[in-house]
Amino acid sequence: GYTVAIVGGSGAVGKEIIPCLENRGILPVSRLRIFGSSRSAGRKIQTKFGEIEFEIFSIEAARACDVVFLAVSGDFSKENAEKICSGEDGAIVIDNSSAFRYQPEIPLVVPEINGEETKKGKLIANPNCTTAIGLMAIYPLLQHYGVKRIIMSTYQAASGAGQPGMDELLEGTKKYLEGGGGQKLEHEVFAHPLPFNVIPHIDKFQENGYTKEEMKVTWECRKICGLSDEIPISCTAVRIPTLRAHSESIVMETEKAVNVKEARSILEKADGVEVVDEPEKSLYPMPLTATGKYDVEVGRIRKSIAFGDNGLEFFVSGDQLLRGAALNAVLIAEEMHK
Ligand code: HSE
Repeated sequence: GYTVAIVGGSGAVGKEIIPCLENRGILPVSRLRIFGSSRSAGRKIQTKFGEIEFEIFSIEAARACDVVFLAVSGDFSKENAEKICSGEDGAIVIDNSSAFRYQPEIPLVVPEINGEETKKGKLIANPNCTTAIGLMAIYPLLQHYGVKRIIMSTYQAASGAGQPGMDELLEGTKKYLEGGGGQKLEHEVFAHPLPFNVIPHIDKFQENGYTKEEMKVTWECRKICGLSDEIPISCTAVRIPTLRAHSESIVMETEKAVNVKEARSILEKADGVEVVDEPEKSLYPMPLTATGKYDVEVGRIRKSIAFGDNGLEFFVSGDQLLRGAALNAVLIAEEMHK
């Protein structure tokens, strides 16, 4: 078995890696180590792999492991990832931050799409969760119909900003209700108070008027699917006051004419997808039902009025902490073990 480490084991994503390893049981784990801040060091948790005591991170300790999941900030990853994996005896590092995603030589992997890329190095980047969720549906469709352009609008939960984001939403909502509404709410994580609001601003604005979160979708969809820069991929990313699971409205202009029944059956057969699409019973993807699921819900599948026969529209909800982050990272590790 492997010695597997999670750095940032008390964060929103790090916490989810443990049950993914336990439930799937595919990666043989002989020892699990969890590294956290000095604040969490000494804390103990029960896992399938025994009782684990949180340790303070060090490069040496991480290098002594076989697989290291980094579920920390980009700055931490930039500083440490290469030191952990360098040389013959370094560990395999799966990094959840955006620190290495856009370096051409670093594989950026969604195992169902480009799993073979994991063979190309010891440092593998885990994609942005919004991208990973959308691609579960986009990729099987583009394989079948080809793609000319993609337009995405997102509805992203507070959990995308980690535990502090969820706390800010919950505490703000409580305060607002207790105070009878109307009062000013404090906000640190989000650009504005999130309760009873939607905020079309996630991450920093770029020179082209898009935010970094929106451009991540463009850059990462292209890199993971091997699409040329000629294919326009445009996203509007919006934070909404849901707690967990991101949703996306996706429009694809395709090369070949689409058939809705066939598209639905392609999605039904796709790995990582659960088709939830019975409008007459009011069944479609929602964060409430997608939360906690490994598969991404896809529904509202219809021919696009905007693009006629060569266009498909659909709606996706996926637990971005799982499918978009922790589970994807674990699947990468399993792929490397194959
Ligand atoms: N950065 C994202 C968010 C998480 O804030 O929702 C991954 O998409």
